[in-house]
Amino acid sequence: MVLTLAVVFMPACATSQSPTPELEPTQARPTRTPPPPATAVPTISPVILQVGEPLSDFRGRYFSASGACTACHQNLEDESGADVSIDSSWRSSMMANSARDPFWQASVRNEIASRPNAAASIENTCATCHMPMASYTDRVEGGQAGIFGSDLLDPDHPLHELAMDGVSCTLCHQVLDEGLGFQASYNGGFEVDLETAPGERLIYGPYSVDEPAVIAMQAASGYVPTQGLQLGDSELCGTCHTFFAGSTFPIQTTYFEWFYSDSRGVQTCQDCHLPEAVGGVRIATTSEFPRSPFAEHVLVGGNAYMLELLKTFVDELGLTASAEQFEITKQLTIDQLQNRSVEIEIEEIRFSGGRLTADLRIKNLAGHKFPSGFPSRRAWIRFVIEDSSGQIVFESGGFDALGKITHNNGDQDPTRFEPHYLAVVQPEQVQIYESIMADANGEITTELMGAVEYLKDNRIMPAGQDKFGAVESIQPSGKAVGDEDFQGGVDGIQYAIDLRQFQGPFTVTIEVLYQSISPTWTEAMRGQASDETVRFLRLYDAVPNIPVVVASESIEIGE
Ligand code: HEC
Ligand code: HEC
Ligand code: HEC
Ligand code: HEC
Ligand code: HEC
Repeated sequence: MVLTLAVVFMPACATSQSPTPELEPTQARPTRTPPPPATAVPTISPVILQVGEPLSDFRGRYFSASGACTACHQNLEDESGADVSIDSSWRSSMMANSARDPFWQASVRNEIASRPNAAASIENTCATCHMPMASYTDRVEGGQAGIFGSDLLDPDHPLHELAMDGVSCTLCHQVLDEGLGFQASYNGGFEVDLETAPGERLIYGPYSVDEPAVIAMQAASGYVPTQGLQLGDSELCGTCHTFFAGSTFPIQTTYFEWFYSDSRGVQTCQDCHLPEAVGGVRIATTSEFPRSPFAEHVLVGGNAYMLELLKTFVDELGLTASAEQFEITKQLTIDQLQNRSVEIEIEEIRFSGGRLTADLRIKNLAGHKFPSGFPSRRAWIRFVIEDSSGQIVFESGGFDALGKITHNNGDQDPTRFEPHYLAVVQPEQVQIYESIMADANGEITTELMGAVEYLKDNRIMPAGQDKFGAVESIQPSGKAVGDEDFQGGVDGIQYAIDLRQFQGPFTVTIEVLYQSISPTWTEAMRGQASDETVRFLRLYDAVPNIPVVVASESIEIGE
């Protein structure tokens, strides 16, 4: 038996002495969920894909890069004949590209631009989750690795290859069960075994593996496959998907949102984000028999835009996935956005006295807020009325070629924002689901390290979230607080439009649109001189920031 010693240390971004008072939701661990029912995943036909560039097989003291694993966990098919290879699913995911992501790199520069004196600690914080294997190794060895200059992005840095491999196989599969779900595990506070020597380190997974297979994997990779059920727990994901800047301001709380939703006890992060393949799968090329359930490593969220950008600039960015693989991941993302994220319910629609009144309910189907995660995400309602000749007579929530929302205060002027609405009566009002951060002067900011409060957070809560019952860090802010129709899982909103001057019948189209980068975030970076900023804005400007239509309904009304 290998002795595992859990060494607890404070992750770089939680250096502040005062622990956050509200970070205690999981003292009682939720019970493990039963295996998920087979979900229908869009089938990727097992055509021979362009397989991408070779992966690094760098071997470090605690972690190895993905190339040490993928030779055997490749060419896998499920019972429907779909290609479910772990290598090709993972390498075009956003997590595999968390270090190469040009938005992330520019965003770190953006943080440093206003706080040059804090550059070292900011870079160290940002590397914690985006370059987790290198960052962890460096911290254990007493370093404080940064990102730029001669630090982790430099090919000559000894941990460069681990850094560029992003959130990789030997990171997730080595996270220890101890401490998961507790405060010290947030902000990238996962722990791995620091004692066991290379060659004997444990790789956790859902199954118990027979001796010959153990020996085969150990001989080839230096890692020993072992059953470890923490891999299936949301708390594992919660280590990085809970991010408090300066250890108190909630930048990302996806795990807390899930914890206080109806999904807890029903569906884990894994159930939705590593969906179950159809039937059994031989999990390695040398496997004797198929295993079930098999978790597909697609790891898709909502970031179709960045996947399109990565696909377009595979060569320039030195990515390992091929354009075809990014296209597949993007399609899976769009599929998730369109089929499992939001529903529009037209509760009532009537036309009388030349006035159209529509009561809508926008329902969130995800296991956390919609949108969740990084605060540049936003979604909004586009409500359009056409007259009998097809002429648009009313539009709230239209957008231009730059992805800016027409009439949105914030897209015209970064010092303003669109409030949450209970009802929309004119085109100048747009219902935008987003979080708006402010700095210590109360001014709107897109800087994570400068934010101290939310002026607005009306992202639709997950079903089951009690508006005020949940921890403070996930409670709504702004006018949504007093909106009685804004409740767990739903926002109710009325559109009341005067159409007396126009001739019916009218066609009403309602869409929910999603954008992973609100243009306010890129505009804030304009004029900065760093290479990473200049490059990102050039790539961004080349890929139109068109929102994804997440849900849509159409209805004809009036005589
Ligand atoms: C020589 C081929 C080979 C290599 C290289 C390899 N594996 Fe495996 N792996 C296997 C085999 C064989 C099994 C067991 C298959 C079975 O029992 O169905 C396995 C099982 C696993 C499991 C399931 C463990 C469990 O208990 O549920 C995980 C997770 C895993 N490997 C991850 C990795 C990682 C991470 C790497 C890289 C460090 C890696 N593998 C490298 C062949 C390999
Ligand atoms: C606690 C872990 C953690 C830390 C620390 C962290 N991030 Fe992230 N970051 C994430 C996660 C998780 C996401 C993905 C959320 C999503 O997709 O909505 C993310 C996403 C992002 C994105 C969006 C990328 C895209 O392509 O849309 C940017 C930009 C970003 N982070 C910047 C930063 C900066 C700058 C820092 C340092 C100040 C930082 N992050 C530190 C976990 C972290
Ligand atoms: C974001 C974390 C994460 C990363 C990165 C990751 N895995 Fe997994 N892996 C999981 C989870 C979660 C499961 C399913 C665990 C469960 O259901 O209990 C899993 C399951 C597995 C299994 C068992 C078969 C299956 O898919 O259910 C193998 C083998 C495996 N992973 C190998 C790999 C390899 C190889 C890589 C790198 C190319 C990798 N994993 C990257 C989280 C991860
Ligand atoms: C080591 C830290 C870490 C762990 C552990 C982790 N993530 Fe992530 N995750 C990230 C980072 C960083 C990003 C953002 C990458 C980027 O956009 O540059 C991310 C992004 C994502 C996304 C967004 C993808 C998109 O297209 O929008 C999803 C979904 C996700 N992670 C799910 C999971 C799940 C499920 C688990 C647990 C099995 C998990 N993550 C564990 C760090 C982590
Ligand atoms: C019931 C299914 C479900 C569960 C459970 C679930 N998610 Fe999601 N997740 C979704 C859907 C659908 C989306 C796409 C819509 C969106 O962006 O919210 C998504 C999006 C995301 C994103 C990208 C968010 C954005 O807008 O940028 C991240 C990151 C993520 N999930 C992480 C997690 C983590 C971590 C957990 C567990 C704590 C989890 N999810 C649990 C369904 C789920």
